[in-house]
Amino acid sequence: MAQTITVRIPGTTANCGPGFDTIGIACTIYNELSLTLGEPDGFSLAVTGEGADTIPANERNIACQAVRALLRKVGRTGPGIAIRMHNAIPLARGLGSSAAAIVGALVAANAATGDTLDKQELLAMATALEGHPDNVAPAIFGGITISSIVGGAPQSLRFIPPAPLRLVVAVPEFGLSTKAARQVLPKTIPFADAVFNVSRVALLVGALCQGRFDLLGSAFEDRLHQPYREKLIPGMTDVLAAARERGAIGAALSGAGPCLIAFARDNAAAIGAAMVNAFARHGVKAAYRDLGIDSDGAKVIAIP
Ligand code: HSE
Repeated sequence: MAQTITVRIPGTTANCGPGFDTIGIACTIYNELSLTLGEPDGFSLAVTGEGADTIPANERNIACQAVRALLRKVGRTGPGIAIRMHNAIPLARGLGSSAAAIVGALVAANAATGDTLDKQELLAMATALEGHPDNVAPAIFGGITISSIVGGAPQSLRFIPPAPLRLVVAVPEFGLSTKAARQVLPKTIPFADAVFNVSRVALLVGALCQGRFDLLGSAFEDRLHQPYREKLIPGMTDVLAAARERGAIGAALSGAGPCLIAFARDNAAAIGAAMVNAFARHGVKAAYRDLGIDSDGAKVIAIP
């Protein structure tokens, strides 16, 4: 009888302000993906939860593509594929829903074929499918990841900050595709802006590693992508300011947006409510989520 593998995958927030395409954090919001490899040529895909009405249930689905890529890589030809996804991560909001689908599918397919690939190999495959490593890396490794492409291959360093950090995410009602949010970025930026971002991202990583949250005040500032994306997200500046005024350590666009994320030691409820109210002043309905850092990354939770 065909075996079903179920994987739990965290959502992720990328960039964290200045760390464009580099920094990512795994968050305590999870999708589940179940994979059954069966008779040749069979295919089915069922989605419940977020995206149940909008995710294409055909073989162009990114999870299906990821399963097929892994089967090719390990030399397993032709088994039928049955995927079930139960999604809590909102789609097209900047919380890593496509990364979760890719990573969940790769981890499940790897487990179903004897776990022959290690996490580094899964990272390379996931990055190729996603186009950038900053969401897939924390989805695989958990924690906070710093990723770079070296000689064409992704490398990631993972760490957990020594003090707890809340991630307060304001989720607006509208979606925004990463493609559209990348199209507004300039081809070049002023040298001074590059220096600004280098200083902020270095401070961000150092302060997070050492738990020096007192130094994080300016560390989420960015001149590489947020100023260009602001026009896509009504109220962005005010929502970020509202979070800081309510005591957040810092605030930023989550990934390519449109979610906005505040980093805080405490007062998550007050910060979240202030962000939602600020969005409302700009005519945008939103809800907030109070999340923590997931330390595990994607993991197999059931092999019935
Ligand atoms: N680093 C990517 C971007 C994240 O900002 O376009 C997309 O989720």
